[in-house]
Amino acid sequence: MSKKRENHPQWSSWLLFVLAATGSAIGLGNIWKFPYIAGQNGGSAFVLVYLACVLGMGIPMLMAETLIGRRGRLNPIDCMEVVAEEAGANPHWRWLGGMGILLGFLILTYYSVIAGWTIAYIFKTAAGVFLGKGASEVGYLFAQFIASPWQLIFWHSIFMLATMAIVARGVQGGLEKAVELLTPALFILLLILVGYAMSAGDFQRGVRFLFYPDFGRFSGESLLMAMGHAFFSLSIGMGAMMIYGSYLPGNVSIAKTSLIIAVADTSVALLAGVAIFPLVFANHLEPATGPGLIFQTLPLAFAQMPLGSLFGALFFVLLAFAALSSSISLIEPAVAWLMEDFGLTRPLACLVSGFGCWLIGLGTVFSFNRWSHLTLFDKTFFDLLDFLTSNLMLPISGMLLVVFAGWVMQPEVNRAELSTSPCLFRLWWLLSRYVAPATVGLILLNGIGVL
Ligand code: PHE
Repeated sequence: MSKKRENHPQWSSWLLFVLAATGSAIGLGNIWKFPYIAGQNGGSAFVLVYLACVLGMGIPMLMAETLIGRRGRLNPIDCMEVVAEEAGANPHWRWLGGMGILLGFLILTYYSVIAGWTIAYIFKTAAGVFLGKGASEVGYLFAQFIASPWQLIFWHSIFMLATMAIVARGVQGGLEKAVELLTPALFILLLILVGYAMSAGDFQRGVRFLFYPDFGRFSGESLLMAMGHAFFSLSIGMGAMMIYGSYLPGNVSIAKTSLIIAVADTSVALLAGVAIFPLVFANHLEPATGPGLIFQTLPLAFAQMPLGSLFGALFFVLLAFAALSSSISLIEPAVAWLMEDFGLTRPLACLVSGFGCWLIGLGTVFSFNRWSHLTLFDKTFFDLLDFLTSNLMLPISGMLLVVFAGWVMQPEVNRAELSTSPCLFRLWWLLSRYVAPATVGLILLNGIGVL
């Protein structure tokens, strides 16, 4: 292990870690998924529950996962093994690291397909395809686009290639360079868009929809989705934060950095809602449209505004950037594992894992066209994969990780890694040991219909 550890890279500074982790957290989840699932699950009621999940479970879990990573300083599988051994526990905890790697890999298979749509939309909006079109025509163009497997495969391939090109350059040469540019750029554009929504959209109605609770459309499954999405959005429950934590220099406070990351991520999700719903209502669209929401609403809205093609294209550029700074963290755990445990070079590890993702991603591509009629429990391949990974596996794996940090690792180790005030440490400890695992367990049982 010590030889592997010598070759394990480190972030150049704590700020780069924060940018990378924030870049990982902010992604399609915030801008594409959050608005549409909030729309489908009663808007504000969903938002409230989501915020509670972030506070009570997400933040303690984010801290737990990062601290396990930094303690082990290896890829998730070896990391779990050495930290378990240090605590005198069973080394089979390594399987939990394996589950994290698998989850990141599986999520990337469909993440890349949707990210591909955002790249395609950069060109479509820039070329003015939507200018002068009404809501139904823009909806029709989107339907036509996703009905074409070849187009989706093309854009999915481009996105996978871009991801692997960054990851192949390594932590300092690739990941750091990418997040330095991508993460700050995203914030700026989102603020511009919120400004636009305030002036051009039905701002009041959008904000009311997001912030006034209506529990009518909120079900047990909504609860599960809110929790699953909180984990998905914070990039927890899989190897991403563990591997990023493993590159973190030793003297940085994990409590502080985790709070920054969680606040940034949640603000961006809310801001995305504040930017998008006023446009939805101003254009008389339905908030519960589903995955196509932003691909129908935004092009339409931009088509009406001065310099719309430019702003529209810029918005999709930034959406693609957000996706890219997340996708690199979805595959990095698998790449680090292939390098450290199988001796592959970084480029080869990227090739193998990237090709695997691309191939399985074809299943998601076909869910929108050729295989759209093939359903199981009323869900297509994409819906099923999304549901299984983000709503079931992420919470299970996140719960096990927090149990590991709270019950298996020694409190002194946790205290040293988190480096925070005794009072905050106590709060983290209570949340990680009792509140988070119990709540995740109950919501899971409720969501799958056992309770
Ligand atoms: N957090 C990312 C998003 O919101 C997705 C992600 C999940 C990235 C898990 C890494 C790990 O889009």
